[in-house]
Amino acid sequence: MKALKKFLGIKHPIIQSPMAGVQRSALAIAVSNAGGLGSLPCAMLSPAELHSELTSLRAGTDKPVNLNFFCHTPPEPDAQREAAWRDLLAPYYDEFAIPQPQYPPSGSTRAPFSREAADLLQEFRPAVVSFHFGLPSTDLVARVKAMGSLVLSTATTVEEAIWLEKHGADAIIAQGLEAGGHRGIFLSNDLLDLTSQMGTFALLPQIVRAVRVPVIAAGGIANARGVAAALALGASAVQIGTAFLLCSEVFTTPIHRSALKSEAARHTAITNLFTGRPARGIVNRIMKERGPISAAVPAFPLAGAALGPLRTKAESLGDGGFSPLWCGQNASGCAELPAAEVVRKLAAGASAPR
Ligand SMILES: Cc1cc2nc3c(=O)[nH]c(=O)nc-3n(C[C@H](O)[C@H](O)[C@H](O)COP(=O)(O)O)c2cc1C
Repeated sequence: MKALKKFLGIKHPIIQSPMAGVQRSALAIAVSNAGGLGSLPCAMLSPAELHSELTSLRAGTDKPVNLNFFCHTPPEPDAQREAAWRDLLAPYYDEFAIPQPQYPPSGSTRAPFSREAADLLQEFRPAVVSFHFGLPSTDLVARVKAMGSLVLSTATTVEEAIWLEKHGADAIIAQGLEAGGHRGIFLSNDLLDLTSQMGTFALLPQIVRAVRVPVIAAGGIANARGVAAALALGASAVQIGTAFLLCSEVFTTPIHRSALKSEAARHTAITNLFTGRPARGIVNRIMKERGPISAAVPAFPLAGAALGPLRTKAESLGDGGFSPLWCGQNASGCAELPAAEVVRKLAAGASAPR
């Protein structure tokens, strides 16, 4: 644990999960200034937005921060699959009296790490760069390391952890099945087969035994005791997302917030309906009626285009039935507090005697 904290230059072994779509630099700044490692999710930012967030980060903290990117291979649009998926959604377009969205979908909302993004990072030289869905090409990994950044990536199986270590990851995030948001799964040929996926406290010790680099536990950790348990099982740090979702620095929508605060948050499932990749969220109408997993859904990240207008219309009526309500299996740590206070509470688990 000491090695990673020292390497990262942080006071507490608490990494705030990067959470694309619900937070930007404000949360990262608050967490880093509180002694954790704040993360900026960059997957849904345009180059201009990324530049502006990096400027805000620089102005807001002189502490280490983590910049997070996806590294999926963008798919070719598949007209037949899109048409089949839109047919399945047709009754909902009728119900809400909205036209079917245009095909092909206009522009992806999630771009993988690229040379252009690396150019923008060059000047900023982040302490940490983390990736979801594997690692980018060898030359891009080498470029990030040459900036002096520590490279992290998510493993959902022991095999993925071994692969990441072999391909240059400096530390591995062991993401258990409980985790909110997208699963980092990347070695499987069938993303819809989740039988290889394990809970955090089954996965973590097995990864710790299989690799030499530090391991960070993620998924279902919501309070100081959870932090202490993960550290006791060999984690060098924890990465926590769901517990920050009600913080004042996060722009979780009112519909998402009220679901997180309700008993509905106890019923989550892994679904591919919203983006094409498996991700955990609170079970809602579309997940019940068309999923939660469907083979008809277009490949990541194209699936979002067909659901987008339904989500917008339903939300305008106060209905979260078509929204991705990302949430882990343990929302009990969610509290409407400033992020620094959440870090302080979680960090108590890192100083408890073990
Ligand atoms: C709302 C939300 C969005 C997420 N977005 C990302 C992301 O952009 N990049 C990423 O690497 N992980 C993302 N994750 C997954 C987290 O990195 C992490 O695995 C998860 O938060 C840990 O489980 P917990 O939510 O139970 O704490 C997201 C999680 C949530 C809850």
